[in-house]
Amino acid sequence: MALNRRQPTKMGNFFVLRCLLIVPLLMTVASFFFVYNGIIFLPLVKMRVEGGDAPEIAAEGVKIWRSSHSAVLAMATNMGMLEYYNFVGSLRATGYSGHIILGTSESLGDELTNYLKSQNVTMKFQGEKYTEYKVSHARFFLYRDWIENCTTCTDGIMLTDFRDAYFQADPFATAVSLGQQYPIMVFEELVDGEHSATHWLTNGVVPACRGYTFGDHQPMLCSGSTMGSREGILEYLRAMTTEIKHWAATEKCRFDMVGDDQSIHNYLYYTNQLNYTTDEGHVLNAVAIPHRTGAIHVVGVQAARIYNNVSQTVGCKEWPEPCPERANYYVKDDAWQNWLPERPGYGSPNDTTRLLDPTTGMILNLDGKPSAQIHQVDRFNDLPKRWFEMMRALGWPYNKPTFQ
Ligand SMILES: *[C@@H]1O[C@H](CO)[C@@H](O)[C@H](O)[C@H]1NC(C)=O
Ligand SMILES: *[C@@H]1O[C@H](CO)[C@@H](O)[C@H](O)[C@H]1NC(C)=O
Ligand SMILES: *[C@@H]1O[C@H](CO)[C@@H](O)[C@H](O)[C@H]1NC(C)=O
Ligand SMILES: *[C@@H]1O[C@H](CO)[C@@H](O)[C@H](O)[C@H]1NC(C)=O
Ligand SMILES: *[C@@H]1O[C@H](CO)[C@@H](O)[C@H](O)[C@H]1NC(C)=O
Repeated sequence: MALNRRQPTKMGNFFVLRCLLIVPLLMTVASFFFVYNGIIFLPLVKMRVEGGDAPEIAAEGVKIWRSSHSAVLAMATNMGMLEYYNFVGSLRATGYSGHIILGTSESLGDELTNYLKSQNVTMKFQGEKYTEYKVSHARFFLYRDWIENCTTCTDGIMLTDFRDAYFQADPFATAVSLGQQYPIMVFEELVDGEHSATHWLTNGVVPACRGYTFGDHQPMLCSGSTMGSREGILEYLRAMTTEIKHWAATEKCRFDMVGDDQSIHNYLYYTNQLNYTTDEGHVLNAVAIPHRTGAIHVVGVQAARIYNNVSQTVGCKEWPEPCPERANYYVKDDAWQNWLPERPGYGSPNDTTRLLDPTTGMILNLDGKPSAQIHQVDRFNDLPKRWFEMMRALGWPYNKPTFQ
């Protein structure tokens, strides 16, 4: 069954290592338990995940991430109003009450500044810091500084791309409900025997710089979306910034390309250099969350295939030639929520569950629930154009009920 094809297997280890027998009781599951080494663990504490703000669970065991003490960080320099409305608007509409920390330009204009203030967004300016690195690399140093400077960012942390991402549910409440509270979580892109870390983005540069070559059994990991605990993410950032410094200081590792932070991210993960050591001395490696099973859903490869199919069907010319016939191509009779055909496996032949909920227009995980964050949505290009217009106009009405 596709649902279970590659679920992470380390959950038991992490929880049992911490002598933790606490499992959040999910809102729809009446009696929930998990099995580890043949032992059934029943939840000792019942709790509801409400708007992402779960009460702290005291004493021994993993602290349940509270959204109010969590943080979403992104670089949002040179972005337009619509990108801010999509990202911040959709995130706040999930009920997420925690920190949103954005790297912004200093000249945002009054309208945008007031909007971001009204949404309790913390704006950060890069200034002269780390300008010796390209922005895609500098952001990892900046994230580290911003987290260290945020004394109330104690629980979950998400580092994410900005322009091509939006939210449908609280990512931290989602991670808690999925039992995915690992110190470092990296996210797999689509896996189907064609797309893997043998891609030029990774195998184009890592063999030259580090003498390491990826194989086609290694799913591509997206460096634009990472989650974890405060402590885990600071370790991740230590590893990333150490490696970035090495690349900057080494002639054969200096590439004039966009995206080699993804090369570094994959290299560190697949050479076991992303880990967090607990207070008890246990080394916990970063956990790769399989495609469509976690709080972040990287839609890029599948979206691009769907979009290319439509472009070919309609007979669009190459970008930048306009192609108005393609916008909202699948929307019929003004049912703007139904912007993709109900055809499981479209653009991702191994998937047996549909990608879209036709009554809301929300993109779904393999389990049929709305994915908390959608990333690389720009690969659908203008297929969901009207859906986004309606979401902004109506204030993301479908986001609210997800975790109530
Ligand atoms: C912003 O913070 C204030 C004070 O904590 C709170 O009352 C308000 O609801 C918050 N607004 C949003 C959009 O989170
Ligand atoms: C650190 O946070 C304080 C307020 O909490 C702020 O005034 C200061 O500018 C921040 N520094 C950096 C480097 O972000
Ligand atoms: C997906 O299907 C293809 C054949 O269509 C197969 O080669 C590949 O191994 C499958 N991938 C997974 C992850 O099941
Ligand atoms: C943890 O990561 C560091 C580099 O960040 C590496 O040197 C070390 O070998 C890793 N530990 C394990 C047990 O994989
Ligand atoms: C492209 O779309 C057509 C019709 O919409 C469909 O029959 C075909 O299977 C699609 N191709 C792929 C590769 O999904």
